[in-house]
Amino acid sequence: MTIDWPALRAAAAVAAGRAYAPYSGLRVGAAALAAGGDVISGCNVENASYGLTLCAECGLVSALHATGAQGPLQAVAVVAGDGEPLLPCGRCRQLLLEAGGPGLLVDTASGPVELSALLPSAFDGTDLAQRRETERRDTERRETRETRETG
Ligand code: THU
Repeated sequence: MTIDWPALRAAAAVAAGRAYAPYSGLRVGAAALAAGGDVISGCNVENASYGLTLCAECGLVSALHATGAQGPLQAVAVVAGDGEPLLPCGRCRQLLLEAGGPGLLVDTASGPVELSALLPSAFDGTDLAQRRETERRDTERRETRETRETG
């Protein structure tokens, strides 16, 4: 699939123009190409209760699911109000990982990079499944031992 980076950046800039950022004054827009060919976008939405702020990438990931677009995400551009690339914050890197995987291409000022370069050694759903399983086995062993010891 060819990625039209200027078009993605332009879509991100349109979204940034719709941001609600009266507190920080930093408008952010994100646009991504999904596997099915759809371009989806999101913008940041702030709140008087500062901690409730939604990043542009949160809106983007929500839109991926809400619109029924076929994922995963292939490429994403995030820009500030000036139209120039802005690197996703840590929380959003984690969100993007689940929506696009480690190979998701992220636009930067010096060209696209894979998400795995921005979020190395990431925690993901496979860790959850594995660690739950180790814990289940440990519990099973402990219970067997306790039953043996107490009769
Ligand atoms: N922001 C985003 O939308 N995405 C990011 O990856 C970094 C930060 C927003 C949140 C807040 O509204 C403003 O930028 C300042 O932090």
